[in-house]
Amino acid sequence: LAKVEVDLSTIPEGKNVIIKWRGKPVFIRHRTADEIAEANQVDVKSLRDPETDAERTKKPEWLVMLGVCTHLGCVPIGEAGDYGGWYCPCHGSHYDISGRARRGPAPLNLEIPEYEFEEGSKLIIG
Ligand code: FES
Repeated sequence: LAKVEVDLSTIPEGKNVIIKWRGKPVFIRHRTADEIAEANQVDVKSLRDPETDAERTKKPEWLVMLGVCTHLGCVPIGEAGDYGGWYCPCHGSHYDISGRARRGPAPLNLEIPEYEFEEGSKLIIG
C-alpha cells in the first residue's frame, strides 16, 4: 500500500502542514512545549473518546492524524475552535491540541494513521 514520506525539518515549531495520503488529508503539527503540556493537562475521564496524549503520539512534539472529521467526514480547520486545536465548520465540532473530540457532534477523536519516524527527519505515513 502506498506510503508517503515527509521531511519534518521543513515544518517549524508551532506550524501545521497538510499532506495527502491515500486520497485523504493528513494533518501534521509540530507542537510547542506549551501545547504538549496543555494536551497532558486534560482529564482523560472527561473525554467522550478517552485517550491520553501519549496514546496518540509517538513523539510528543509531532501530532500526526487524519484530517477527516469523525462526524461526517469534512476537513476540520487548524488553529481554530474553542480548545486550541481544530474546528469543523460543517456542524461545529471542536478538537483539542491532541485532536480529541471536545464539543459538537463528532463522536470520536481524529484518527491516527500508521506512521514511523526514520533516520534524519523523515516521517513515513502508511
Ligand atoms: Fe464535522 Fe459534522 S462533519 S461536524
